[in-house]
Amino acid sequence: MSYLKQVDPEIYDAIIKETERQATKLELIASENFVSEAVMEAAGGVMTNKYAEGYPGKRYYGGCEYVDVAEDLARDRAKQLFGCEHANVQPHAGSQANMAVYFTVLKPGDKVMGLDLSCGGHLTHGHPINFSGFLFEFHGYTVDRQTEVIDYDQLLKMAQEIQPKLIVAGASAYPRFLDFEKIRKVCDAVGAYMMVDIAHIAGLVATGLHPSPVPMADFVTTTTHKTLRGPRGGMVMCKEKYAADLDRMVMPGIQGGPLMHIIAAKAVAFKEALTPQFKEYQETIVANAVRLADSMKEKGYRLVAGGTDTHLFLVNFVDIPKVTGKKVEIALDKAGITVNKNTVPFDPEKPFVTSGIRIGTPAITTRGMKPEHMPIIADFIDRAIKNRLDDEALEKIRLEVAAFCNKFPLYQERMEV
Ligand SMILES: Cc1ncc(COP(=O)(O)O)c(C=O)c1O
Repeated sequence: MSYLKQVDPEIYDAIIKETERQATKLELIASENFVSEAVMEAAGGVMTNKYAEGYPGKRYYGGCEYVDVAEDLARDRAKQLFGCEHANVQPHAGSQANMAVYFTVLKPGDKVMGLDLSCGGHLTHGHPINFSGFLFEFHGYTVDRQTEVIDYDQLLKMAQEIQPKLIVAGASAYPRFLDFEKIRKVCDAVGAYMMVDIAHIAGLVATGLHPSPVPMADFVTTTTHKTLRGPRGGMVMCKEKYAADLDRMVMPGIQGGPLMHIIAAKAVAFKEALTPQFKEYQETIVANAVRLADSMKEKGYRLVAGGTDTHLFLVNFVDIPKVTGKKVEIALDKAGITVNKNTVPFDPEKPFVTSGIRIGTPAITTRGMKPEHMPIIADFIDRAIKNRLDDEALEKIRLEVAAFCNKFPLYQERMEV
């Protein structure tokens, strides 16, 4: 029996339709994933009822003995997974994780460097429309125009000129490995704190498929819901010497009561991430991304930085007349393929239009798709782009995509509620 169906048929209906959408479309948004039933059960459980301001053993409320168990497990597993000295699992989201670090080490007006949004950075890395840009003097570094990867010599020169108090590394749309040792050297040369936001690559870092910044960074922030495949949320890792200041800044500094149901679900996701199967899963994500990127290149598309080392890549339409990221996103959606438009380095178009799309493989890999399926997906994408003005052709592709997705079932029980 569904309580929701009886109490709130409108929301019930929206959830059923969203379940169908997820099942029948190809989910290629690089920041999305499908959590396990166990993670979903914890996230939808009774811990949502509990107020637990404070930290395990030191709460402002009574009755915290069981939520303490959940938070202790989440923290311990995070430490085991990433090899960090300290973990705070309370940030409600990635943005709050970043805010917590900024407020721990910076004062308003301090100078910070972060990767420019058009080169793959995130809004919270200093964009003028975000709190980070309102409060701090951010200077955006870019990628090299030719190679489209970060030029670390240039980064050093810029840091020497600006003398930032903090350098933020990490990105939302950067397909190549980041060199954390070089970034540490730049930070040391100018006496800056080093923060790395691994929101996108956390699953790869946890399994050793991307070099880890944990040994050399002062702070590492992440979301828990992308490659890491946990519930929607954030986390900060840091050296022990910053632990007390960071914890005070998360709560009471910027947040109130922690979302204990989500923290319980984070613990479950970290347990899953510690298994050998999770490592295999991450390996397949990368193998799928590389194969899909190669298949797109074979079809003549230009990729930012020439391809990928990770779970995502960017297709650049700058050279194709009248094609923008926005138009391609709409056409692909009609064809049952979900991506997001994305700026490419030095994009001439506005962020709401863009000259590119970002494609990621974490979600389709969770469904069981393998490298041999990637040429089929590249074919769907290519046909949809070529037929972007022909709704009939896009509808035909949509039916083919749905039939293809049907071979990789998702949340079967939920479809039958
Ligand atoms: C690199 C990076 N940092 C932070 C965030 C913010 O996470 P949230 O949306 O949970 O606030 C994102 C989200 O996409 C991200 O890509």
